[in-house]
Amino acid sequence: MRIEYPETTLEDIGGYQVLKDWLKVRKQVFLKRGALGIAHPKGILLLGVPGCGKSFISQAVAGSWEIPLVRMDPSCLYSSPLGASEQNLRRALNLVESASPCVLWIDELEKGFAVTDPRTDGGVGYRLLGTLLSFLQERSSPVFIVGTTNDIRMLPKEFLRKGRWDEIFFLDLPEEEERRSILEKILARHGIDVPVTQPMVGFSENFSGAELEQAVLDAIFQSGGRRENVGDWEIFRALRKTIPLSYAFSDEIEALRSWARFHARLASKSPESSITSENGSLHIKSNTV
Ligand SMILES: Nc1ncnc2c1ncn2[C@@H]1O[C@H](COP(=O)(O)OP(=O)(O)OP(=O)(O)O)[C@@H](O)[C@H]1O
Ligand SMILES: [Mg+2]
Repeated sequence: MRIEYPETTLEDIGGYQVLKDWLKVRKQVFLKRGALGIAHPKGILLLGVPGCGKSFISQAVAGSWEIPLVRMDPSCLYSSPLGASEQNLRRALNLVESASPCVLWIDELEKGFAVTDPRTDGGVGYRLLGTLLSFLQERSSPVFIVGTTNDIRMLPKEFLRKGRWDEIFFLDLPEEEERRSILEKILARHGIDVPVTQPMVGFSENFSGAELEQAVLDAIFQSGGRRENVGDWEIFRALRKTIPLSYAFSDEIEALRSWARFHARLASKSPESSITSENGSLHIKSNTV
């Protein structure tokens, strides 16, 4: 467990406007704690393509809400004596409550709470899961949980049931306008004063935010660390050298999208997600989430 006070805020995140708007609205309710007569928000599960900013956004929630971020690494909970792992988790959750109001960030949930075979782990996985699920459901202290995962298949169904989380958001690869905004934020963060050009956003289709950032860092390295020598050509060249992970994992990404279509909310405003009316009847485009 680690307590951090992140400086990253939602202003540093490019794209994912639906998620950012949702978080802005919940901030008021969470920080006013009951004063509005509404139960405080419980938390969100961020499901997404690797490198699309799940960890970054988790930190930005605490940074924007100006509350501590308590980071729990689920793989550290396991101890061999009987009952020790559950005790570790209970102790950790008590500590989290004492730090409230706070954000509890459980990154890569599947690493600690994956579906396990009780015959191989003596049922520890299931008991840990039970303890966490009760906490998710029953706590009354202002702890906002942000869970992240890349692999929904590894998580037990109980995690994904409606009501456990306020919302499950799916973060897909960024669309063109989102890539423009992400690149602008990344360039500004790394002190590069170069306008984002159409070839940059056009060429980087299927790139994740992490890959966009890696290309910017590569351009800085190639210029010997002299940011003033990094121009739009250097950035474009670095993007051209990048082979995005999505090429190799297109089947996995498609599987995530299919699951998310019916079980999660899109973190981005999708141009496809419109409902149109034609000849007096409503048409919902097929990939509406
Ligand atoms: N939408 C975004 N806006 C701005 N920066 C971004 C965005 N997405 C990713 N980044 C940059 O990419 C870096 C890596 O992203 P991050 O580690 O949060 O991705 P992730 O989804 O958690 O990946 P993984 O699935 O591998 O854990 C961030 O630290 C940030 O600098
Ligand atoms: Mg991550």
